[in-house]
Amino acid sequence: ANPTLLILPGDGIGPEVMAEVRKVVDWFGRNGRPFDVDEDLVGGCAYDAHGQAISDAAMERAQAADAVLLGAVGGPKWDKVPYDARPEAGLLRLRKDLELFANLRPAKCFDALADFSSLKRELVEGLDILIVRELTGGVYFGEPKQITDLGNGQKRAVDTQVYDTFEIERISAVAFELARLRDNRVCSMEKRNVMKSGLLWHDVVEATHAARFADVQLTHMLADAGGMQLVRAPKQFDVIVTDNLFGDMLSDVAAMLTGSLGMLPSASLGAPDPKTGRRKALYEPVHGSAPDIAGQGKANPIACVLSFAMALRYSFDAGAEADRLEAAVEKVLADGLRTADLVGPGGGATVSTSEMGDAIVAALEAS
Ligand code: NAI
Ligand code: MG
Repeated sequence: ANPTLLILPGDGIGPEVMAEVRKVVDWFGRNGRPFDVDEDLVGGCAYDAHGQAISDAAMERAQAADAVLLGAVGGPKWDKVPYDARPEAGLLRLRKDLELFANLRPAKCFDALADFSSLKRELVEGLDILIVRELTGGVYFGEPKQITDLGNGQKRAVDTQVYDTFEIERISAVAFELARLRDNRVCSMEKRNVMKSGLLWHDVVEATHAARFADVQLTHMLADAGGMQLVRAPKQFDVIVTDNLFGDMLSDVAAMLTGSLGMLPSASLGAPDPKTGRRKALYEPVHGSAPDIAGQGKANPIACVLSFAMALRYSFDAGAEADRLEAAVEKVLADGLRTADLVGPGGGATVSTSEMGDAIVAALEAS
């Protein structure tokens, strides 16, 4: 049977960018990589249809699919809906019910856009790194988590960083597995000099490496030094694995190494299926539903297209196809095609969402 892909276009520009991804998926279907594609609702459009940001039926399809590809959710139309039915609740339920504990944020610099980076061209030319952030543990969820009144006009706020061995083991296993599909190098970041959780993190990453991934090159860095190195010499990294809080910050830093929001893909992975070894996976652009440009044909579809490239690489063992798709994106950018978000304040000619999608398919065809 063909691998299955559940597409959830969502709201705002979500359906617009997803329409371009469909052209790419269909192209791969005609060229030896067929998928069984299903489509369903998530976000505000799902609320309008069923009063829920994602239906139980759609959740079942998401559980069954080999990968889920999501556009974006939300918009001013749904500002007043009940809290539990707000568009973001659909996304949160997907992450929670699929137990997606590993968040993948690549920072890849396309040559033609190197001048968009916050850094000098020579620092980012050819940059291709992947940040693997632990997403379901750490200080965002640890107990106790509270603000108490101390009674003397003072209050005390407590957040607790908690990590268990199994959580560190499974996130580091993801990082090592992905490194094998890339440049085979992992750098783990924590602060073991001041945090017990950093100490355990370091030791569990070491032990996981020794037991199962000794072929991958492993280094460690204190997370603050890591932040500095990401800006000083980002090309030294391949895969970075880190906890929820450090990963939140480091992945935003890394995003600025490459430029526009319209270019940034992401993925969230769960545990491997015991039978097939395949991980539950949700792929989505980093950007939101962009209500300010929705319906105008201005959205950049590349973040969503690159999210599908990540699905090819990390869910479908199709690294060569992912390379080919990324090269097609590189080609259209090198040819000078730009959606409006990729044109600086100086201006310049732009193409529409669908023209960009068509150009990517044409570049695939010519490759
Ligand atoms: P946003 O990412 O939707 O837009 C921020 C700015 O970037 C806007 O000016 C937008 O036009 C531009 N932009 C975003 N994606 C673009 C693309 N592909 N091409 C060209 N320009 C692009 O973030 P914002 O405005 O804060 O949120 C809008 C709505 O999206 C809200 O309802 C928010 O809750 C939701 N949202 C949803 C996310 C998701 O579905 N994962 C993530 C972030 C926000
Ligand atoms: Mg963040």
